[in-house]
Amino acid sequence: MREATEEQVTNPHILLDIYAPIQAGLVQVEEVFREVLRSNYPFVDDLVKYGFRLGGKRLRPALVLLSGLATCETLCREQMLLAAAVEMIHTATLIHDDVLDEAVIRRHLDTVNARWNNETSVLLGDYLFTRALCISSSIDDPFACRELNNASRIMCEGELRQIENRGNYGLTEELYYDILRGKTAALTASCCRLGAHFGGGDSEAKEALAMYGLHLGVAFQITDDLLDVLGDEAKVGKSLGTDLMKQKSTLPVIRLLEQLPSRERADLIRKLSNSSNHHHDTLREWWEKSDALSYAREKAIDFSQLAAQQLDGLQPSPARDSLQSLAEFVVSRQH
Ligand code: IPE
Ligand code: IPE
Ligand code: MG
Ligand code: MG
Repeated sequence: MREATEEQVTNPHILLDIYAPIQAGLVQVEEVFREVLRSNYPFVDDLVKYGFRLGGKRLRPALVLLSGLATCETLCREQMLLAAAVEMIHTATLIHDDVLDEAVIRRHLDTVNARWNNETSVLLGDYLFTRALCISSSIDDPFACRELNNASRIMCEGELRQIENRGNYGLTEELYYDILRGKTAALTASCCRLGAHFGGGDSEAKEALAMYGLHLGVAFQITDDLLDVLGDEAKVGKSLGTDLMKQKSTLPVIRLLEQLPSRERADLIRKLSNSSNHHHDTLREWWEKSDALSYAREKAIDFSQLAAQQLDGLQPSPARDSLQSLAEFVVSRQH
């Protein structure tokens, strides 16, 4: 069984600095997890605790709380509950995603599908998802449920559209971004909208923060797609290379193929379509010959800058500064 080191469990210093204004809030969110993620059935109890044993970056709860503090002075119970709910939805999607990607490492540990099996993962993901819905429906204001249900629907559509386009090496950049807005950015946008709503933000602030979350989510996923081709599994703490293995066209590949003369393009597509090939080795020489990696990096930075611009109209505050730094972090992260 895989064990994680203390260093892997702790978030990097840069994130600790960015999260400083919400440090106490994040501790309360962990308390919500301890309160709700328990079951009278030992097998279920072990599973839910395993799913949450290593934190991950806690980016989505941080977005709820920072957007909250960008619109109000002190955080309320609803924001804590919703910060916990969005992380539970996120974790549920990761557990399901690891089945789809046949991944064996997540958050530096064996995935649930590797340690148990796919059936357990499907059901544990459903369990966490429904626990999150229980939390949001315990909040009197129906906005919470409406927002999270809508984001979840858009996420599922994004994931389904990704499957629809598996093996489509003619995927356009625009369609790629649109899929990212669905599978990743709808939730980050909702995190910000929810934080601002329960902070009493006016509709302008709410929409600015939601747009911040949307662009941030796209920047985040482009960077994740770069890590999938270039990252170090030990550092990132999850299985990498699965996008290529599962025939997902991500931005570096889209750009590379766009630039190749038709014969070389056809040849490379043939190689990428053969799932027994080692795509990393196939692509290594191509990365050096093209601008695909730097192009994808630049696009991620463009989205991150677009995110940061949305903050211009908000009152200056330490939380707004943190959101600004977070936009820079998501495109420079190594994990
Ligand atoms: C991974 O998300 C899934 C994507 C949307 C790319 P994170 O990188 O935020 O995962 P954790 O929560 O830190 O483990
Ligand atoms: C899917 O994207 C993440 C979700 C939005 C569910 P990835 O497949 O790239 O996520 P990782 O890389 O496994 O974390
Ligand atoms: Mg995956
Ligand atoms: Mg990925």
